[in-house]
Amino acid sequence: MTKACLRLKTQLKDLPLGQSLHYFASVSSTMDAARELARNGAPHGTIVVAAKQLKGRGRMNRVWVSPKGGLYASFIVRPHRAIEEIPQLSLVAGLSVAEAIRDIAKLHPAIRWPNDLLLQDQKVCGILVEACHGAVIIGIGINVSTNPRELPPEAISLKACAAASTDIEALMVAVCRHLSAWYAVWSTSSFAPIREALRPWIGLFGRVVRVRAGTHQFEGTAVDLDEAGQLVIRLDFGLHRALAVGEVTFLR
Ligand code: BTN
Repeated sequence: MTKACLRLKTQLKDLPLGQSLHYFASVSSTMDAARELARNGAPHGTIVVAAKQLKGRGRMNRVWVSPKGGLYASFIVRPHRAIEEIPQLSLVAGLSVAEAIRDIAKLHPAIRWPNDLLLQDQKVCGILVEACHGAVIIGIGINVSTNPRELPPEAISLKACAAASTDIEALMVAVCRHLSAWYAVWSTSSFAPIREALRPWIGLFGRVVRVRAGTHQFEGTAVDLDEAGQLVIRLDFGLHRALAVGEVTFLR
């Protein structure tokens, strides 16, 4: 076991999410490693972390560029909530990462509903939630001190935004701490407290957006998050529409 892994294990041992840690210097994707562990019955709270990924992936099978210098982690959780509530875990994770970035990097990212975090309108973190083998896997990728030449043009790192610290280990501990706490809230109460905590981080309200949801596309002003975490947009002709999932592009 490497020193980095041992240090992480010690710091996470008392957290509900983090009691079982699998650390890789290099892996194809922490999602795939976590899927395999879930298939073999890995318990709730198991985490897979990698220093780099060779085949990191994002939503819609996009590539997630994953050289050294980023934080790559997948969390196996076994929720007892209705299936339609599972997409809320993207927001639970986004809130937890935003708070971790605030604590460690002293930066204030904006959450681009439902699963990206932005700094300077560029992507600094992506979240991927997948269900498999009776479990849910929450994948988190953060560009911490990633070389800008290796990142896609729409991405940015914490380092490039003058982060107070780019200590990946400290950031990982903070993510686990916040995610453990917010996951406990999510699994035992309603979405209401999470919605309230999310409000200051949602960088969408008042902005004109296009949301692609499956084969549908909506344009309007983002106005609110509803009680289930759906994005409410005011369509150009005045009607309101709540969307459970989708891909947001800023128009203005
Ligand atoms: C997205 O923005 O589309 C989601 C990106 C998710 C990336 C993370 S990095 C850790 C985990 N392993 C992966 O292969 N993907 C997720």
